[in-house]
Amino acid sequence: MKVVTRSVEETRALGEELGRAVLRAGDVVVLSGELGTGKTALAQGVGRGLEVDGPVVSPTFTLVREYDGRVRLCHVDVYRLERVQEIHELGIEEQMEESVTLIEWGEAVVSALPADRLEVRLSAGAGPDERIIELVLLGESWRHRSLRLAEIVESRAPDEDHQAPAGDEPGDGQELEAS
Ligand SMILES: Nc1ncnc2c1ncn2[C@@H]1O[C@H](COP(=O)(O)OP(=O)(O)OP(=O)(O)O)[C@@H](O)[C@H]1O
Ligand SMILES: [Mg+2]
Repeated sequence: MKVVTRSVEETRALGEELGRAVLRAGDVVVLSGELGTGKTALAQGVGRGLEVDGPVVSPTFTLVREYDGRVRLCHVDVYRLERVQEIHELGIEEQMEESVTLIEWGEAVVSALPADRLEVRLSAGAGPDERIIELVLLGESWRHRSLRLAEIVESRAPDEDHQAPAGDEPGDGQELEAS
């Protein structure tokens, strides 16, 4: 599944929708993509969707930041890890069950992550503010949520034709309520 965003706010909005309507405690999300592609921006949106207190800021130097919210958010950046094994020293596994765990540069440590996970792959698009965001669903729990994700992806303005149906409330998302 693929989404194209054309501003940092659109990327945050996608994250917010994921946080609001899809993610739940125990989820692990790998955020991958080159420097500045918007991994942290997406995480900021997830924070909004999870209603965490305080703005989500990059964990590049602290490696791990945690936020209380409707669901707890654990935001990790493994860019500075030298060995995959070091991920076990961050103390994030103890809290994975109760948190949504987002891992920037997580593609480097997938061998140490649960097989069941969402991978969000960001890359540069055509213009300076365009990003291509690919969602890859791995494992049973994500297979069950693929329809819900597809709905979100489709509700983000389709690439060429911006013909949102009249009267359609963006962000209302009632159809996503049932689980
Ligand atoms: N469509 C877009 N989506 C996300 N960010 C965008 C977009 N267009 C422009 N930007 C800009 O790109 C930058 C993304 O920065 P961000 O810190 O989120 O990236 P990152 O992938 O976390 O980088 P790093 O690898 O350093 O952690 C911001 O300056 C943001 O304003
Ligand atoms: Mg970042």
